[in-house]
Amino acid sequence: MNLIIKNASNIITCTDSISDGVIENGYIIIKDGLIKSIGIGTIPSCLCDGNTNIIDAKGQTVIPGLIDSHTHLIHGGSRENELNMKLTGVPYIDILESGGGILSTVRATRELSKEQLKDKSLKSLNRMLIHGTTTVEAKSGYGLDFDTEIKCLEAAKELKLEHPIDIVSTYMGAHAIPPEYKDNSKGYIDFMCEDVMPYVIENGLGEFLDIFCEKGVFSVDESEYIMQKAKDMGFKLKIHADEIIPLKGAELAAKMGAISAEHLLAVSDEGIKDMAKSGVTAILLPGTSFYLMTGKFAPARKMIENGVRVALATDYNPGTCPTENLQSIMTFACFGMKMTPLEIIKGMTINAAYGIGREKEIGSIEIGKKADLVIFDCPNLNYIVYHFGINHVDKVIKNGEVVVDKGNLIRK
Ligand code: NIG
Ligand code: FE
Repeated sequence: MNLIIKNASNIITCTDSISDGVIENGYIIIKDGLIKSIGIGTIPSCLCDGNTNIIDAKGQTVIPGLIDSHTHLIHGGSRENELNMKLTGVPYIDILESGGGILSTVRATRELSKEQLKDKSLKSLNRMLIHGTTTVEAKSGYGLDFDTEIKCLEAAKELKLEHPIDIVSTYMGAHAIPPEYKDNSKGYIDFMCEDVMPYVIENGLGEFLDIFCEKGVFSVDESEYIMQKAKDMGFKLKIHADEIIPLKGAELAAKMGAISAEHLLAVSDEGIKDMAKSGVTAILLPGTSFYLMTGKFAPARKMIENGVRVALATDYNPGTCPTENLQSIMTFACFGMKMTPLEIIKGMTINAAYGIGREKEIGSIEIGKKADLVIFDCPNLNYIVYHFGINHVDKVIKNGEVVVDKGNLIRK
């Protein structure tokens, strides 16, 4: 079955160019799951054939499927118990150092079976899909021991086959030091590099490796050591960098040839220049800034002015950003970091595609790319960001198939 979207008030193509790529009164023709043609006004009759489903998108805005390029999708439990501590001003790192935070989610994750983790994550994937996300990056890092990390990565691999959303997997054993290695970070790093990473790569369980490089977690030197080992094994690199304390994590990302550096609230001017020069994508997580309650956001404008490619993601996790909804991240990016609606949409489409190495297949509305699209019930681009706190999605199209209609999942 082919699909045509016609009469769209606006199509935001998000092509990788400086022009804004907005088509008014446009159409998109989809064949075999791919974008076959894009145009303005009436569809030439030679492009239509009998077996075609037609969507009239009058009054609506079409964008590429949203890409959530930084999530901690697979985990057990929840952490609403931390809310009161946060309200009384207990810092995030202090909660972690007292055995809570990430470590409390590690305990909850270790208790669940693979099937239980899949059931919980499936609910999250469904929430993502109805809000317009068609591809998601998913990090491990709440198991830390061999069996639980592998269980989480296997769960992600199986979900990828069972759910319309495409999942890109990242091994993030370097998320915290587990209790069994307390005061022995060297022992934990050797365990990851010798026992876990070879298994992950050999079994196709993780394409990327990520590290929480932060004071009290993994130092810059430790991060560089792990990144070099990972690179030698064939992982592509990501890093949680300069989130709380400025440690020069962005500089390290550039030096190691990482595909992305993420968070970056405390990035230095030098780090920004290095990222621009080395083509490291900055993945910013303004929902986390909001949730940390420090009033501090990453300097998005400075990064954009210095030529850094800026992507945006949820950071969906149970501690610092429990939301699957990229539309709420649009609000924080605009009102917290002063990004424009076009920068925001590109940050969740083409720039996010670069951040996970998928820019050739997804992230823009271009002939030959996958027909992953969102139709918002909004007359123009600005409206999507302006009217906040609601779900604007009318339809989601994944690989050319309508998977969400009138904001509801289509169940097969
Ligand atoms: O990206 N910063 C480190 N890791 C996650 C939070 C994990 C947690 O608190 O559970 C993040 O914000
Ligand atoms: Fe994160």
